[in-house]
Amino acid sequence: MNILVIGSGGREHSLSWKIAQSPLSDDLYVAPGNGGMGDIAICTDLDTSDHDGVVSFCRTKNIEFVVIGPEAPLVEGLSDCLTAENITTFGPSAAAAILEGSKGFTKDLCSKYNIPTAAYGRFSDAHAAKEFVATKGAPIVIKADGLAAGKGVIIAETLAEANTAIDDILGGQFGEAGAELVVEEFLIGEEASFFVLTDGVNILPFGTAQDHKRVGEGDTGPNTGGMGAYSPAPVMDAEMVERTINEIIKPTVTGMAAEGHPFKGVLFAGLMITEKGPELIEYNVRFGDPECQALMMRLESDIVPALMACAGDNLNKISVQWSDKAAMNVVMAANGYPGSYEKNTLIGNLEQAGSADNVVIFHAGTKKDGEDILATGGRVLNITSLADNVTQAKNDAYAALDKINWPDGFCRRDIGWRAVIREEND
Ligand code: AMP
Ligand code: GLY
Repeated sequence: MNILVIGSGGREHSLSWKIAQSPLSDDLYVAPGNGGMGDIAICTDLDTSDHDGVVSFCRTKNIEFVVIGPEAPLVEGLSDCLTAENITTFGPSAAAAILEGSKGFTKDLCSKYNIPTAAYGRFSDAHAAKEFVATKGAPIVIKADGLAAGKGVIIAETLAEANTAIDDILGGQFGEAGAELVVEEFLIGEEASFFVLTDGVNILPFGTAQDHKRVGEGDTGPNTGGMGAYSPAPVMDAEMVERTINEIIKPTVTGMAAEGHPFKGVLFAGLMITEKGPELIEYNVRFGDPECQALMMRLESDIVPALMACAGDNLNKISVQWSDKAAMNVVMAANGYPGSYEKNTLIGNLEQAGSADNVVIFHAGTKKDGEDILATGGRVLNITSLADNVTQAKNDAYAALDKINWPDGFCRRDIGWRAVIREEND
């Protein structure tokens, strides 16, 4: 079967790497792909916002299965369009992708179906939002309702900061995504990422991870897309997984079906494990990046039947095996990220750096220029390893990373610190 993966990040590189190992995969295409994917897939320039163009590409290349990596094409309805043309597609409909596309929608769903989450209010009027904030006090969380490339959440330490965030968001800082905002109680606890596949009815747990969103060591500084992740997340023990499925995932899946928008795809719950138990911070309607890279290292089964089953109604027939080992993914980003950074800088010694059996380097913002690999994005490389425990996975990932010759890039040196401390204390 010919397969098309949509996207260009480390997430899509790791998904493609796993799909390419499937006996079901013949020609694997990726649009647009990146500088590291040429040896496992055929990279193709395809305007994925031109849905008819994607359909006709699928027809020309006999593509029978499409995997949509990022949220934007989902929210724009690419999955609906391909499904209407009878092309099996992994990724929810636009109506279901609203779980990520509108934070206010998700909060209302939580409220209606009793899903534990932070207390909140929805506002499009700055005065009303500020009055609400004044009654709640700081710290408090202000969120643009729509997609804001991971930048639409402000943790306000003071009321003044909260008021500024309200003015900025409603004043157009994030364009249409900020026409409305959510004000949310600040939750205290440990964060975890939890993934399930679902066909709208059946639920298949698909791994746990923790990522590091802040740019600086010790989880300080501005938020990024994610500077590293590891899987599994120690805080998600069997009891916490079961509670999350029963208290958060099941009511969401049945609630979305009851609302007439069954969710089919991967549901990524960003959780805060508070002293009361798991609470939902947000939903994403796609795999996490960099979490996916760690998950793919641990997945032993063929991923293709599991992803395809989400589009049908027999996900209950699928089971998958996971390695008991720990996977870690350390992100290398361009100096300056998440602010401005230089492009087209040269990265050297990648082949040797990635030569260990338990290490894979997934690319993100790179391009191939002849034999050279150039950095073109903010997050550029994902150095990913699999080992007996997080401490070993961390050592192996950094040993590989230190062989890379890229003076224009940096990484955090403390990815996995919580898990490493846990292992030291065991
Ligand atoms: P989000 O984009 O919704 O995942 O938010 C980005 C980050 O902001 C999360 O990973 C959390 O670290 C933090 N955050 C969001 N909402 C809350 C909340 N209600 N309480 C505490 N931290 C939050
Ligand atoms: N790593 C968090 C995300 O993908 O949203």
